[in-house]
Parts: sequence; structure tokens; C-alpha cells
Amino acid sequence: MYPDRVVSGMRPTGALHLGHYHGALKNWVKLQSELPCLFFVADWHALTTHYDDPSVIETSTWEMVIDWLAAGVDPSQSTLFIQSRVPEHAELHLLLSMATPLGWLERVPTYKDQQEKLADRDLATYGFLGYPLLQAADVLIYRASQVPVGEDQIPHIEMMREISRRFNHLYGKEKGFEEKAREAVKKLGSKRSKLYQELRTQFQEQGNEEALEQAKAMLDDAQNLSMIDRERLFGYLEGSRKLILTEPQALLTEASRLPGLDGAKMSKSYGNAIALREDKDSVTKKVRTMPTDPQRVRRTDPGDPGKCPVWQFHRVYSDDAVRQWVDKGCRSAGIGCLECKQPVIDAILAEQQPMLERAQQYIDDPSLVRAIIADGCDTARKLAQDTMRDVREAMGLGY
Ligand code: TRP
Ligand code: SF4
Repeated sequence: MYPDRVVSGMRPTGALHLGHYHGALKNWVKLQSELPCLFFVADWHALTTHYDDPSVIETSTWEMVIDWLAAGVDPSQSTLFIQSRVPEHAELHLLLSMATPLGWLERVPTYKDQQEKLADRDLATYGFLGYPLLQAADVLIYRASQVPVGEDQIPHIEMMREISRRFNHLYGKEKGFEEKAREAVKKLGSKRSKLYQELRTQFQEQGNEEALEQAKAMLDDAQNLSMIDRERLFGYLEGSRKLILTEPQALLTEASRLPGLDGAKMSKSYGNAIALREDKDSVTKKVRTMPTDPQRVRRTDPGDPGKCPVWQFHRVYSDDAVRQWVDKGCRSAGIGCLECKQPVIDAILAEQQPMLERAQQYIDDPSLVRAIIADGCDTARKLAQDTMRDVREAMGLGY
């Protein structure tokens, strides 16, 4: 019914590292050439945990946008913006909050987890409890169909689907809906309207999801329908409501295959990260001092790549030939660890070279970055305002 659209955000809490690149950004770069994409800096989300120390947010915001551009996110293909510059997100968050049961928010696993993990911060706040609801607003306001996220975010996506369904249920009532929907069915033409009815019955009586999908696909193809009739027919398939908001799907991004220098998850706070735009000497030094198989104490001791974090890097950065060379050389003590690390160093530097080049123009002229964001905010805001018009109308605020 609504066009396919991808929305995702990242909190600006520090410079991005290669874990972010292999975990998320590479995927964004791929997606932008396939579907319309909106990528935004979730600065309000950063405030939910850093409300007492907001100074990092501003610098991190601009650094992060440069990191995105460096990684190849292309403002001519995707829309880049800052959440707080599209205040409609806050309006939708507020309106959604009216009908969101507290239990839904308290039940989200990240709520308790993060409070325990970040025990040094007081996260018993209203804003933090509302984190996933603000995230729901971020996505629903663009009627996004797909949201690329990591596994930890799946419960948030599940919740936004429930929020969307609840919204449509509460506010999607339309006077004479059933009648209007039946009129719209007729407009499909006799063959298709018969099929539509059959598929609708199969879904409603037997919960046949395939029938639902097939009916949706048919509606997608029905050229002669007006937007509003199409919307009604989508709503009529599942019940007797108009679909004002859509149900987005998670596009699960595989966990970053690149661990930190010590083999644990790469994270700035663990001190095991390589920044996206780290300088050459520092990359070289970090990899050269990386821990290896602890059993391999002397050069003459054979090692086991399975027990070595350097091997994980080879799995991301090296081809088969190099990996065979490592495996054989390590197990037979034929190569030394520094020797083994050199191809990794070379590959990281080669990966970073184009990123450093792309970043340079933006470092030299920050006004370019501001302009990209200003454009993106305009584009995003128009889309957000379209949805908000429908939302206000549905909630009886259309004065
Ligand atoms: N919560 C997300 C994270 O921590 C960031 C985020 C905020 C987000 N709003 C979003 C991601 C909307 C996807 C869509 O990674
Ligand atoms: Fe690790 Fe390579 Fe040394 Fe083996 S040779 S322990 S894989 S660094």
C-alpha cells in the first residue's frame, strides 16, 4: 500500500569503529542502492542515557555523519538527517504515548538490561522508559517497511508493530467503512474481486498468512485503484479498519563478524576498538600488539588459529590462499605472529584508505556536511508531516 522504505538510526555517543562498519554501515551502503533509505542521528535517544552529560552528543553527531559519508553512505542516494531537527518525531511519540500500556514498555528486555549494565547512571527516568516508543515514532512516522537493526533491537521492532496495530485499531475507524470497502472490492473487477474475497475469508477464518500475502500482492498490482481505496482494501483484509500506520519489518543485520582486538565484542569502552578513521601508525601498532594464541609463547611453539583473535580478523579480511598460509604456518610454527598479522594490517589500511579520502573534503569544509544534513532534514520533514496530517486527523485533532 505504502511504498517500500528503509529507516534506521544510530545514537551519537562516540566515534564509530570497524565493528560498526562491518556490523551496520556496510549494510546501509548496500541498501541505499536497492531501496529508498532514511538514515538519521538519534540524538534524542542519546540523551535518554546521557542527559547529564550532553556535551559529547554534539561533537559525536557531526563526527558520526562524517563516518557515514566516509563509509560510503551517499547523500545522493539516501536521506541523512538528525532526529531532533524533525520535531514531528516528538509529536508522534507524545500521541502514541497516550494509548501505550506501561507494561509494554516495562517488558522490553533492554529496559532492565541496560539499567543493570549502566548501573552508574540513573536510568529510572520517564525518557528512558519511553526509549522504544520514541524509536517506534522514528520508524512509523515514515511508514517504513524495513528497519535494518542488530539482534538486540528485535524486541523494539516487535513492539512498534504492536503499537502500529493498536493505533490502527483505535483510530482507523471510518464511518461506513465496511460499505466503502465493499464498493472498493467491486472496483477490482469480477475475477479479482472474487479472488480477493476468497483470500480474505481464508485469512480471517483460518489465519492463512499466505492468503494474506497473496491478497496484498494482488492489491499492489491493481493499478486502477485510488490510494484511499487501496488503503481500505488493505485494512479490510485484516479487519474493518483503515491502516494509517504500517507494520515495519526488522531486516536483521548479521552480527559483526569483526570482534575487538582481544577477541571480545568490539567496543570503544572496552578499549579494544579500531576507529573507522584511525591513523595508519596507530592501526599498525594496535594490530602488532594484539594478543595471539596464549599457548604460543615462543616463536618455535606451534599455535592454534582457533584460539587466536588474529584469525577472526583473517576470516574477515583475507582470501583462501592467505588463510591457508596462516593455518599451516601457525600450526607448524612455520610463521611468526608478526608475520601473520601483516596481511591483516595491509587489508585494514586498504579498507580505510578510500574512507579517509572521502572524509577529507568534509573535514576541510564542514559546511558541506551541514548542507547535506539540512537537505536531508527537509526531505524527512516533508514525509513526516504527511503522516502527521493523517495521524492528527484520525485522532480527532484535524482542526
Ligand atoms: N535504538 C537503536 C540502537 O541503539 C537506535 C535507533 C533509534 C533506531 N531509533 C531508531 C534504530 C529507529 C532503527 C530505527 O541501535
Ligand atoms: Fe595467531 Fe597468526 Fe600467531 Fe597463529 S600465527 S597464533 S593465527 S597470530
